[in-house]
Amino acid sequence: MDALLDTPTPNATGAPRLHVHPVHPATPDAQWWRTAVVYQVYPRSFADSDGDGVGDLPGITARLGHLVDLGVDAVWLSPFYRSPQVDGGYDVADYRAIDPVFGTLDDFDAMLGRAHSLGLRVIIDLVPNHTSDEHAWFREALAAAPGSPARGRYVFRPGRGATGELPPNNWHSIFGGPAWTRTTDPDGTPGEWYLHLFDTRQPDLDWGNPEVHAEFESVLRFWLDRGVDGFRVDVAHGLVKAEGLPDWDGVTSMVEGSRSDGSGPMFDQEGVHEIYRTWRRVLDTYPGERILVAEAWIDALPRIARYVRDDEMHQAFNFAFLTTPWDANRLRQSVLDSLAASDAVGAPTTWVLSNHDVVRHTARLGLTEAGSLPKGIGAGEEQPDTELGLRRARAATLLMLALPGVSYLYQGEELGLPEHTTMPDEARQDPAWFRTGGAETGRDGCRVPLPWEAGAPAHGFSPSGRSWLPQPASFARHALDAQRGVAGSTYELYRQALGLRRHLALGAGSLDCVDLEGTAPSEAVVLRNGELVVLTAFGPDPVVLPEGCDVLLASGSLATDERGRLLLPPDTTAWVLPAARHLPRARGAQG
Ligand code: GLC
Ligand code: MG
Repeated sequence: MDALLDTPTPNATGAPRLHVHPVHPATPDAQWWRTAVVYQVYPRSFADSDGDGVGDLPGITARLGHLVDLGVDAVWLSPFYRSPQVDGGYDVADYRAIDPVFGTLDDFDAMLGRAHSLGLRVIIDLVPNHTSDEHAWFREALAAAPGSPARGRYVFRPGRGATGELPPNNWHSIFGGPAWTRTTDPDGTPGEWYLHLFDTRQPDLDWGNPEVHAEFESVLRFWLDRGVDGFRVDVAHGLVKAEGLPDWDGVTSMVEGSRSDGSGPMFDQEGVHEIYRTWRRVLDTYPGERILVAEAWIDALPRIARYVRDDEMHQAFNFAFLTTPWDANRLRQSVLDSLAASDAVGAPTTWVLSNHDVVRHTARLGLTEAGSLPKGIGAGEEQPDTELGLRRARAATLLMLALPGVSYLYQGEELGLPEHTTMPDEARQDPAWFRTGGAETGRDGCRVPLPWEAGAPAHGFSPSGRSWLPQPASFARHALDAQRGVAGSTYELYRQALGLRRHLALGAGSLDCVDLEGTAPSEAVVLRNGELVVLTAFGPDPVVLPEGCDVLLASGSLATDERGRLLLPPDTTAWVLPAARHLPRARGAQG
C-alpha cells in the first residue's frame, strides 16, 4: 500500500495520470455470499396483495420479477413471523408461524419456491435477543413463580430499594426509558422486574440458559429445512450480557451504545461468539451455502471482524461505512479500513447505505451536516435538500457498487425514494417515538410503502389504496413505472450499475487506491476495481478525467471544458475505463 507502483512518464497532453496502490486482492471463484448484492425487503411496506394496507408474502411473490429485472442476487426479508407488531415484527410471538397479516406458511413456501426458480437466494431475519411479550414462554414466565424454570428463560431480577421498587440496574432501553419493567404477581402485589433492551413488550431472553440455545437451534433447522439460504441475525452483539448485569453510565442506543469500544455490559460480550460457532456448525450440515449475517452495531471494525472469523458468521453489516459523513478522506479511509479488517479474518466486506432503521441516504446526504445520522426527521427539524441529497445518494451508491464484497440495498433506494420527513405525528408507529415522548422522531420515515405505479391507488402499493403509513405526495414521481425505461432515472442507474457489476465481476474484484494527478485527496475518492476506475467528486471543483477514458456509467451529467477534457462535477460518481497509456500496471496487487 505504501509503495508507489510506477513512475509516470512525461505527460505531453496535460491530462491527469493515475498512480495506483494495491489494497485488496481479487477473489475469483468466490462463493456467492462473498460477492452478492442483497436487496432488503421490509414486508409491511413492499407490496400489499389483499388490500389491508399492509404488505404481505403474496405481494412479495408477485413482485419478485422486479428484483430480477433490477439485477440483485439475493433478498433479505425483515420478520414476517406471528407477532403483535409492536416493533414492526421484531417482536416475535411464534418463530415457526407466519403472522396472518403477512399470510400463511404455504404463502412463504410459494414465495421461496418462486424466488429460487428465479435464481434469487432468500435470507430471513432471526430475532434471538428477545421475544414478544405474547410469546408462549413469556406468558408462562409471568404466570410462574420467581426462581422457576419458566422465568429462567428470561432475565427476571428482584428490584433494588427497600421494597424492590427500583430497577435492578441503571440500564436504559434503546427505545428510551428504563430497560426494566416490573411485573405484578398473581395476587396483585408488585413482583420482579424483567430486562428489555428494546420495548417493554420485547423481553430479553437469557442466553445463559441451555433451553434457549436448544430452541434457537431448532428454529434454525425449521427454516433451513424449508430451504432458506440464510439468516440475518438481529442484535447479534446483544445476546449475552456481562456477568452480574453491572450498572453502566454510557448511552444505550443502537449506534452510540457501541461507540465506547464495545465495552458496555449489554453488547459485544465474548460469550456471543460460541453461539455463532454452534450455529455455523448447524448450517454447515445443510447442502448449499447457507449463511449467517450479523447485525451488530459496533463501531470498531476489528471488533466486528470477530463475528466473521471462519468458524462463525459469514457476513456482518458494515455500519461504519454507513455512518461515515460525506467527506472524501473519511470515506476513502472507511473503505480501506473495512477491507483491511475483513481481509484480516478472510471474510468478505459488506457495504450498506440504507436500511429500515436509519434515515434514507437520500435524506442524510442532503442535510447541512451531510451524512450525519439523525434519529428520524420530523416536520419541525431541519429538512434535507432533496435534490442535493438525491444527487449525492446516487453518487454514494455508484461508489458502493464498484467495491468488492457484498452490497446491501434497501427497498426503494433503487427509486431514489426520499425519507418521509413531514409525516403527521398521529401516523407514527415506531416504539422509539412513543418511548421517548417524541424526542426521537423514529424510523417510520424510511418505512413508508413503496410506490409502484404513479397513478394507481396508494401508488400501486395496495389494490384498496390503503397504506399503513401515509405516502408523501413526492412518491408519485418516484414510482417505478415513472422511471422504468427513462434514461438517467435512478432506477435505470441502479439497473445499469448492477448489470455492469455482474458483467465485470466487481464483487470478486481487487481494489486499488488511486492518486489522480492534479486532484487533491480531499476533492475525490478514486479507486480501481480490476480495470474499472471509480471516481467520486466531492467539490468544490469538478475533477478532470484522464484523457481518452471511456465513461461506462455516471451518476450525473458530465461536462467538458474548453480544452475538450471531461469534467466530473461535485457530488457525482463515474465508472471509467482509462485509456491504457494513463494507467501504470499495478505490480503485486493480486498477491
Ligand atoms: C434491530 C432491528 C430493529 C429492531 C431492533 C429490535 O436493530 O433492525 O428494527 O427494532 O433490532 O429487534
Ligand atoms: Mg396485506
